Amino acid sequence: MEEYQGKATMEKITSLSKRRGFVYQSSEIYGGQNGAWDYGPLGVELKNRLAQCWWKEMTQLHDDIAGLDAAILMHPRTWEASGHVENFTDPLVDCKKCKSRFRADQIPEENITEKKCPDCGGELTDVRKFNLMFKTQIGAAEDTANLIYLRPETAQGIYVNYKNVIQSNRMKIPFGIAQIGKAFRNEIVTRNFIFRSCEFEQMEMQYFVKPGTDVEWYNEWKKRRWSYYEKLGLKMDHFRWRQHEKDEMAHYAKEAWDIEYLFPMGWRELEGIHNRTDYDLKRHSEYSGKDMQYIEQETNERYIPYIVETSAGLTRNLLMALCDAYDEETVGEGDVRTVMRFHPAIAPITVAVLPLMKKDGLAEMAEEIRKELMGDFATDYDHGGAIGRRYRRQDEAGTPFCVTVDYESKEDNTVTLRFRDSMEQVRVKRDELSERLRKEIKNYKRIL
Ligand code: GAP
Repeated sequence: MEEYQGKATMEKITSLSKRRGFVYQSSEIYGGQNGAWDYGPLGVELKNRLAQCWWKEMTQLHDDIAGLDAAILMHPRTWEASGHVENFTDPLVDCKKCKSRFRADQIPEENITEKKCPDCGGELTDVRKFNLMFKTQIGAAEDTANLIYLRPETAQGIYVNYKNVIQSNRMKIPFGIAQIGKAFRNEIVTRNFIFRSCEFEQMEMQYFVKPGTDVEWYNEWKKRRWSYYEKLGLKMDHFRWRQHEKDEMAHYAKEAWDIEYLFPMGWRELEGIHNRTDYDLKRHSEYSGKDMQYIEQETNERYIPYIVETSAGLTRNLLMALCDAYDEETVGEGDVRTVMRFHPAIAPITVAVLPLMKKDGLAEMAEEIRKELMGDFATDYDHGGAIGRRYRRQDEAGTPFCVTVDYESKEDNTVTLRFRDSMEQVRVKRDELSERLRKEIKNYKRIL
């Protein structure tokens, strides 16, 4: 499938995100800050749930993986050792006339050879290497001795702690360390909403293995990461593998495959699986002077482990989830409803409780029911406007279940349970509601 078949466009996703409070432009009142985004009330819930699903998958379901939350600011030698100071660069050219800046590998080759700006035809500068790491100073004095970087990947925080984790948690190879956190890159081209930003979040897991077993583990992790996305109930025909060519591989990689997603703007990287060999640990050993070898207790054998990395963008996963869920459906006479078909495991709101009317005690009963559900589910309560419009609002927020309290509820203690995807409604006893919701969440299957 090469052509995008979904109903989403980046314009629709961007506008819905702002309208419904998924994502706002950063510092909007000052005209916005390029490359930075703010996650609103629904967005932060969606992001947290995506992070929780990943965390559960990688740590709770794996005895051999421990979690970590390392600092963003690391000793600057870290980035010399990792190769980022030297190699983490983009080739850039500037137009001397219109002052536009381009990535040399993203404009036609003849523009580079003829030094001609693709926008205005003005003269381009020579190609120069531009390091993507943000630099700042720590402490009061603004000199180079106080130079510090914002981390461009979370992975290095794991490598420098790998011996700590072995010691504190008595981990034995093969084992992994998982981390979710912010990363920063001075990206020059930040088009396509939150797809590529300067401040973003990653979900990375580094799996430490005995040299010689790395290929086997690499293939195993490829399989596991694919099945993770399957479990989230996503459109799997929008997923594919792409292997990196030798000349595009990161400086540390022996083998690299991307899981790509078919976004409205085309196939793009969602997650990378890398065989980083012993490159990082060897370099940290060299630069820190510390022994990074692992000692096998049974045999006393010593070696620097190989590392298989799974590296996913959390904020990019959020964009994928928005595009994947987005649907428009004609209902009734030409009425179009926008519905976000999130899996209940990631939906920002799981169940909304709505009184049919505000009066006659229905609002009070609905609020009570909401309180009963609150401890176990992410709930919302809405009493404003016609019931049909309230359903539409919840559809747009991606709420999989609505509970409506009506006059019958007062008589027989039953409520209407409405399903987002099919719009079907069933009657459920109030005291069986929690159990029914739990069952529906567990057995959820996407129908469209
Ligand atoms: N530790 C390896 C590493 O960082 P990467 O391929 O550069 O590898 C991994 O990044 C993932 O992080 C990407 O697949 C993408 O999802 C996300 N990512 C990278 N740069 C990003 C950016 N500027 N904005 C948003 N997400 C980004």
